[in-house]
Amino acid sequence: MSLDSQFLETAIEIAVKAGEIQLDRQGSDLTVDKKGPIDIVTEVDVEIERFGRQLIAKRFPTHSVLGEECPNQPEAASGSSRYCWMFDPIDGTVNYAHGLPIYCCSLALEVDGQTELGVVFDPSRQELFVAERGGGARLNGGLLTVSTETNLGDSMLCTGFPYDVRETADEVVGLFGSFVSSSRAVRRLGSAALDLCYVAAGRFDGFWEQRLFPWDLAAGALMIEEAGGRVTGFSGEMFDPRDGAILASNGPLHSQMLSVIQNFEPSHAIRGID
Ligand code: IPD
Ligand code: CA
Ligand code: CA
Repeated sequence: MSLDSQFLETAIEIAVKAGEIQLDRQGSDLTVDKKGPIDIVTEVDVEIERFGRQLIAKRFPTHSVLGEECPNQPEAASGSSRYCWMFDPIDGTVNYAHGLPIYCCSLALEVDGQTELGVVFDPSRQELFVAERGGGARLNGGLLTVSTETNLGDSMLCTGFPYDVRETADEVVGLFGSFVSSSRAVRRLGSAALDLCYVAAGRFDGFWEQRLFPWDLAAGALMIEEAGGRVTGFSGEMFDPRDGAILASNGPLHSQMLSVIQNFEPSHAIRGID
């Protein structure tokens, strides 16, 4: 499919502007609201999402927007459009609020139910990841390819913990333990969109997480596919960003990672605070 070049230009414009706002406000006295016991939102998340929604509404008034922080904004069209933007103004909000410079803005465009482009911008490293379906994945203009690792025991993996981890620690931390026992190293950075871009860039060999949202997943998943990697659900089924679960790899490691998930049984040994 040949996309209107304005779509990609707009996605990059929003992500880069988001990065400017993030850097400008980083370390300032931010208003932080709790959406759940450990899930937070800052005023900067909301400001960036409003800006992005307004620009999309101005340029493409019939497009719908699926964003994390302002689901009831008038700019969010009914969802009947063929074009749907998936927008995470800050992926890695907990890191951002604590002054840890591992966060990004993630934006993807879905056309007729298929992600056609994805943009992720990390302002701390000035890294712009761009993927177009059929056109490859790029980091600051240079083509990306996934790693060539074939042995899970020699791999470096990454994961994240969903916001219900206090209630699901048996499962989430238990599976983390299984991967720790099967790989060289497992990292947990706190920004799913960046984690996925790092698989696309060959910095990680694989990634898994559950109960994510389309705005976390869509851009990064396309990045990996376009860099030659593989993305599926937790049982190896076709990946759908609305399902929330993702198993992502360089390709050769996919079946070994699937086996770890399939062989995992929660021990019910990990308890949180009652
Ligand atoms: C979160 C981050 C984190 C992941 C969480 C996400 P947010 O997104 O991607 O790495 O583990 O599951 O919800 O809240 O920072 O946009
Ligand atoms: Ca997110
Ligand atoms: Ca977010």
